[in-house]
Amino acid sequence: METTYKRLIAGNRAWVERKLKADPQHFDKLAHSQSPEVFWIGCSDSRVPANEITDTQSGEIFVHRNIANVVDHTDMNVLSVLDYAVQVLHVKHVIVCGHYHCGGIRAALGNNHYGLIDNWLRNIKDVYRLHQQELDAIKDADQREDRLTELNVIESVFNVCKTSTVQNAWNQGKSLHVHGWVYDVAKGHIKDLGVNVRDNSDLGDIYKFDF
Ligand code: CO
Repeated sequence: METTYKRLIAGNRAWVERKLKADPQHFDKLAHSQSPEVFWIGCSDSRVPANEITDTQSGEIFVHRNIANVVDHTDMNVLSVLDYAVQVLHVKHVIVCGHYHCGGIRAALGNNHYGLIDNWLRNIKDVYRLHQQELDAIKDADQREDRLTELNVIESVFNVCKTSTVQNAWNQGKSLHVHGWVYDVAKGHIKDLGVNVRDNSDLGDIYKFDF
């Protein structure tokens, strides 16, 4: 355990040296401010690091991660990070990125009792209920899990769009696109689910705000 801990510090030192060798001003530039164009909402899974899988650098992606990339409108954490990303950082894109082989999705599909997390996973069970007809028609268990992973991303995309923060930004004429992606941990590829929301026209009337 101690070795793991020390390895991380040593890794940090080596990384700083490599960065400075490539660009002596690297950290000076980052120290002043950040202006990422992308806000990423992903899963906490250790196999899905936003910068690494998109081959991007520090400063390029503002990140929020939780178990199974859920966007719950009562979660002050995700709402606060989203609000800061949109209103202060003026990001151009919000990306919800789920991933296949997600432990959270698998747990939500089952009936095991895990503890506190059961309440969090209920958000995903609700996604299942909303799409039960489609999901129950898929006989293969792995395919059904993959589809729930995709539908959970799409619901999170629309949960982002339903927020007052995002609708307010659109009303102010800001260019803000919300996307849904799924990362395949077995292949390394990102799949764009083709949901690309840029205004509130696709929201049900009940969710639209009058400004
Ligand atoms: Co996951």
